[in-house]
Amino acid sequence: MYSGFLKNVWYVGIPSAELAVNKATARKILGEPIVFYRDSKGKVSAMRDICPHRGIPLSYGRVVNDQIECPYHGWKFDGTGMCTEIPSLCPDQELNPNKIKVRSYPVHEAQGLIWVFVGDKDYDVSKAPAIPVMKAFPADVKPNLTYVVNFPCHVDHAVIGLMDPAHGPYVHKSWFWRSEKTMLEKKKKFAPVNYGFQMVRHQPSKNSKAYKILGGTPTTEITFTLPCVRVEHIEVGPRNFYSYTALTPVDENNTRVTQLAYWDIPWLTLLKPAIHQFSKKFLGQDMDAVTKQQDGLRYDPSLMLIKDADTQAKWYYALKTEYHDHLEGKREFNHPVKETELRWRS
Ligand code: FES
Ligand SMILES: [Fe+2]
Repeated sequence: MYSGFLKNVWYVGIPSAELAVNKATARKILGEPIVFYRDSKGKVSAMRDICPHRGIPLSYGRVVNDQIECPYHGWKFDGTGMCTEIPSLCPDQELNPNKIKVRSYPVHEAQGLIWVFVGDKDYDVSKAPAIPVMKAFPADVKPNLTYVVNFPCHVDHAVIGLMDPAHGPYVHKSWFWRSEKTMLEKKKKFAPVNYGFQMVRHQPSKNSKAYKILGGTPTTEITFTLPCVRVEHIEVGPRNFYSYTALTPVDENNTRVTQLAYWDIPWLTLLKPAIHQFSKKFLGQDMDAVTKQQDGLRYDPSLMLIKDADTQAKWYYALKTEYHDHLEGKREFNHPVKETELRWRS
C-alpha cells in the first residue's frame, strides 16, 4: 500500500475563476510552493514560487509585460521560468540572465480548472492519466458552482472519506438528506476504467432525496480516476448534471478539496443558492469527520478495510501502488480492478 503522494500526475492547481489576469497567485501542492499567473493573452504559467536570487516568493511580486517581477531586486521571469532581466547589471557587466531558471510546471486549463503537472522534469506528460473531462460539455464550459475547502488530513483519508459508501447515514445525517433509519441494502455494478473505476450507470437509490428534485428518471454514473478525482454524471433525459470533486495534496496534513457543479438544466439555476448551501454543508460534514479522525490517527493505530463497503478504498490504494510501482519499475501498468458487483447497507 503506497501512502505517499503520487507524482507524475495532474492535480488541480486553482479554479480558473480564481486566477485574475496579471496577478501572481500562490498555491502549495505536494509540499511545494507554486506560483500561478495568467498573462494578458490569457495564457497560464506555473513555476516554483521561490526567487533563485535570494529566495523570496515570487508571488509577492507583480506581473509586468506578461512576466513575473521579483519584489526584492526586480529580476523578471517569463512563463517558462527563464530570467529575462536583472536590473542591477551595468551594460558592460557580463552575466546572461537567460541562464538563470526557475523550475516551471506544465499547466492545462479546461472546463474551469487549471491543472498542474507535478512530476519529474523529463517525464512524458502524455503518458500520465488523462484529466477527466465532462463529455457532455465543451472545453470552455464554466462551472455553475465552485467551492474550495481545506481538509486537515492526508489526501488518502480525504479520498477514502469521500468515496466511502457507508458513512452517509451517520455523517450526513440531516433532515433534507438521510438518516440511519432509512438504511437499505445497496447493490452496485463496478467496472475498471483507465487508471480508475466506475460505478456503472444506474438509477439512484430511492432513499436519496437529493436526486428527487431533478424530476424525471435520473440515472447516475460515478467515476474515480487517479490521482484523486471523482466525477458523478447524472443524466435526466437529454439534460446533464455533473458533480466534480478533485483533491489536491497540499502537504502531509492538508488536502484542498475543489468541488464543482455543472449543469444544463435551466430551472436548476434558480436553486443555485440552495445547491451551494447544500455542497457547503455536505462537504463540511465530511471535513468534520476527517478532522475528528485526526484525534485518533495521532496514535498511529492500525486500520481496517472491510468487505464490500471498503472495497473502493482498497482499489484506490491498489491503483496508487500500481501506478507508483509501474513508474519506479518502468513496467506496464497492470490494472488491479476487475468488473464486479458490490453490496453494502447504507
Ligand atoms: S530575491 Fe528575487 S531578485 Fe533578488
Ligand atoms: Fe461524505
